[in-house]
Amino acid sequence: MIPEDKVREVAERLSIVEVVSEYVPLRRAGANFTGLCPFHAEKTPSFNVNPAREIFHCFGCGAGGNAFSFIMRIEGLSFPEAVKLMARKTGVEIEERQLTPVEKQAQSERQTFQRINDLAAGFYRSVLEQRPEGAMARAYLEKRAAIGEIAEAYRLGFASDRGDGLVQHLKSNGMALESALKLGLVRKSERGWYDQFRNRLMFPIRDAKGAVIAFAGRVLDASLPKYINSPESPLYHKSSVLFGLDMALPSIRTENSVIIVEGYFDHLALFRAGIRNVVATCGTALTTTHTGLIKRHAARVYTLFDSDAAGRKATIRSMELFMEQRLPAYVITLPAGDDPDSFLANNPVEVFRTCQEKARPAFEFFIRSLLAQTPPDSVDSKVRIIDELLPRFKKIADPVERDLYEKEICRLLGITVHAFRKRMGGMNLTDRDTRIEQKQALQKGDPVQETLLALICGYPEARDEALRTGSENLFDGDYLELARLVLDTLANNDDTQALSRLSDRIEAPGVRSLLSRMLVSDARMADIDWRSAFDSCLRSREKLAIQPIRDMATQLAVLDPDSPEYTALLKKADALRTRKSKIQP
Ligand code: GTP
Ligand code: MN
Repeated sequence: MIPEDKVREVAERLSIVEVVSEYVPLRRAGANFTGLCPFHAEKTPSFNVNPAREIFHCFGCGAGGNAFSFIMRIEGLSFPEAVKLMARKTGVEIEERQLTPVEKQAQSERQTFQRINDLAAGFYRSVLEQRPEGAMARAYLEKRAAIGEIAEAYRLGFASDRGDGLVQHLKSNGMALESALKLGLVRKSERGWYDQFRNRLMFPIRDAKGAVIAFAGRVLDASLPKYINSPESPLYHKSSVLFGLDMALPSIRTENSVIIVEGYFDHLALFRAGIRNVVATCGTALTTTHTGLIKRHAARVYTLFDSDAAGRKATIRSMELFMEQRLPAYVITLPAGDDPDSFLANNPVEVFRTCQEKARPAFEFFIRSLLAQTPPDSVDSKVRIIDELLPRFKKIADPVERDLYEKEICRLLGITVHAFRKRMGGMNLTDRDTRIEQKQALQKGDPVQETLLALICGYPEARDEALRTGSENLFDGDYLELARLVLDTLANNDDTQALSRLSDRIEAPGVRSLLSRMLVSDARMADIDWRSAFDSCLRSREKLAIQPIRDMATQLAVLDPDSPEYTALLKKADALRTRKSKIQP
């Protein structure tokens, strides 16, 4: 926990222009600095930094916020991590604040959870290593060459089918079983407590620091389900955990790359072969949290998924995530039918290294697998291929790379670049492009409410006036939410940076983007007659409020006065009238 005044002190020593300049070349343009947005692909700058407001905003993708938000986003850090990083840069010393009672309780609960997981991991491990009921598991691991140091590195264990071994172990260590229940380790029936994991080989899932946060249990035979995983808990969020990250970090740093695999045993096979910069997802599809995490640690990523249809799909899906993060991704392919485990069992590690060297850029892999599925032997199939390709092609951020792929696609399909571009221009924008378009439409926003907001940000008198009129009579939707926050913030604290700091506390991306957009463009509001601007906005809002009443009157005329629709509409019209009369003083 970082004390609020420390956050402030760091913020005050920062200049957002300097912070951003370390990542993005900026040029002055009027009151702002502009550059190419680092958060989406663009050729003309729509990324703005306003030094007076200490805020940035991209009119292309809607990203916006203050220096901390910028660092969080570009470095993939949490808020406290970003503040700490900036504190080091600015020479502010941060000592952690005393915890509040609620925080203390949460912390002590976490410690209990942690202790239970540690006890469980130790218990499963001892069963595997020493107990008679672990014999089957020992034989299984022997067969899979996962014994000795390997088993130790993963802290592999075994949950026997005794049914209450862990329950007894936790009890004798004085742990509350209710807490173990929340971790999904034990369950309760009328006949008492029993173990959740039975007759399963146990892989502890650890966080980046090596703490056990969950378990995956594999059967020893062919029965189903093959794996059972711990449920989500305060310690475990599967969409943000990469299995094996703690073991992989040192090697990820030296290699500056990460290999992603799908299975726990795939991870183990690579580890045994001495390939250590490897992580696995915990039985879920890759998420943006995963890819963000990877981007924090490495400059390139390799995917190593099964060579079947499911693996191909996972590869292409992950490619899209990596493209969005602008993280260069390569696909390692093994011979059909092999997974890393079987491949390394039958080949020396050098052969694997050769496969890695031959890894193709993910997009190229994608083109080739598309062509393998749909041979480009007719006009019709070529069109289909291009339509599949285009949405992803548009995500290629690097212009040089785009150019190369364009040529490659055209060569493979036997079409001219001209034809390709024509198709690209004519095609309905898809996916990300539509999203950006929608965002831009949204970003045009409501000029009246926007002006009103800018006025209350810039003029204390306009704030008083807004408070008198009531913000709910001036704004609606996201604007209303933001107006309330702004009025609140500036009521206590009217320094120039108060609004920049406010952006950290806004959870909703839409509202945050609204704030940053308004602040980067509010220079035009300086030195105007706030009163007449305010009044003219008020008049526009009134007109807007009256229109629906007119429409409603027409509708009411044709409805049966006894119908529920009539009553509902009447209520709505009344509400609008009240609002209108409040606006008109
Ligand atoms: P082996 O096939 O024994 O080498 O194990 P593996 O870990 O490589 O498993 P597999 O290739 O079948 O599946 C890859 C990954 O998908 C596993 O490591 C799990 O993370 C996940 N997975 C597979 N089966 C299940 C299942 O039944 N339940 C859950 N939750 N995850 C599964
Ligand atoms: Mn496997």
